Amino acid sequence: MAAAAGQLVERNNKRDAQEAELAEGEGEAAGGVVTPLEHLHAHGFTDRDLKCLKEAGYTTVEAVAYASSRLLQQVKGISEQKVAKLKEAVKGLVHMGFSSATEINLMRQQIVKLTTGCAGFDAILGGGIETGMLTEVFGEFRSGKTQVCHTLAVTSQLPVEQGGAEGRVAWIDSEGTFRPERITKIAERFGLDAEQVLENIAHARAYNVEHQTELLVQAASMMVEARFALLIVDSVTALYRSEYQGRGQLADRQGHLCQFLRKLQRMADEFGIAVVYTNQVVATVDPMAVFRGGEDKKPIGGHIMAHASQTRLYLKKGKGQNRVAKIYDSPSMPDNIDAKFAITENGVSDEIKDKDNKRQKKNGDGDDE
Ligand SMILES: Nc1ncnc2c1ncn2[C@@H]1O[C@H](COP(=O)(O)OP(=O)(O)OP(=O)(O)O)[C@@H](O)[C@H]1O
Ligand SMILES: [Mg+2]
Repeated sequence: MAAAAGQLVERNNKRDAQEAELAEGEGEAAGGVVTPLEHLHAHGFTDRDLKCLKEAGYTTVEAVAYASSRLLQQVKGISEQKVAKLKEAVKGLVHMGFSSATEINLMRQQIVKLTTGCAGFDAILGGGIETGMLTEVFGEFRSGKTQVCHTLAVTSQLPVEQGGAEGRVAWIDSEGTFRPERITKIAERFGLDAEQVLENIAHARAYNVEHQTELLVQAASMMVEARFALLIVDSVTALYRSEYQGRGQLADRQGHLCQFLRKLQRMADEFGIAVVYTNQVVATVDPMAVFRGGEDKKPIGGHIMAHASQTRLYLKKGKGQNRVAKIYDSPSMPDNIDAKFAITENGVSDEIKDKDNKRQKKNGDGDDE
């Protein structure tokens, strides 16, 4: 996974080279940030083979390379023999072996990070939300999860040197809380053309768990066609909670959720996009809570959720418009470091000092807690 981690810039260069190559050579349209499946033609695969793969959600050579043979054998129209041939063909097209730690270090330094809109928040993330990775944002209602998503949907479109990744955004919305008017305000704050920013966000309401999963296939095909930087799923667990109820359905729920989260990881690996998903919390009566700083809430989804993302962020309400973001689980940052930020009309911003908070509250535009 490390080799595939967040190499958006490198991928973009690769994409440009591929575009030129395809335009000159085969004369086919290619717009993805990755290797188009059409490269398999040169290895003896037919249009029909490619169609079968695409229908099963394998829209790029990387997707085929990262999938296990067992999974590929489940694709309708692809025989066991063909899977072996596929595996052989993709070996030469996608790097999947060992790399030296020096190379990994270099690659990690190049990882594009998305700014949250608040310097302190970025700092606890080591610069921002990493592309090529999964970030879970959890917290209780109105803690700011959806507002963080709105801000990232804009900042991901900024130039790299301003904390963006110059890419489009796909937004899977299971709660119906996406608000274009919020995007407009945030775009204005960052000096971007609001109309263009809205145009670059592909939004879909998810109505059930199955639909939510299907939307990932659609998102993947869009990502082959154009340069995407971010996929948002807000919230990843809401539909699971309403569709699978009670202890009896827990194993099924976890199994399906695990598959969904794996698909998200595959997309992050494949397209180098940042994947940000939100999650709720439940009250816990865990007597060990005292050892977690008196935390009486925990994210839902158990171990499956806990291990799926590279970074877990816990958002908590603060005074007025202020919020606290806490690193819950990160491979490179210490746990339990936190940052204060504020939710304003212009999206996520630096913490509002007490005086300003009081004034905003008086004017009636603050949080009404
Ligand atoms: N235009 C705005 N200006 C200032 N603050 C706003 C604005 N819109 C929303 N907020 C703040 O954002 C809060 C809601 O945050 P958000 O919708 O991100 O919560 P959430 O964590 O996604 O909650 P839920 O679990 O219900 O989805 C509101 O309570 C309000 O304080
Ligand atoms: Mg929300």
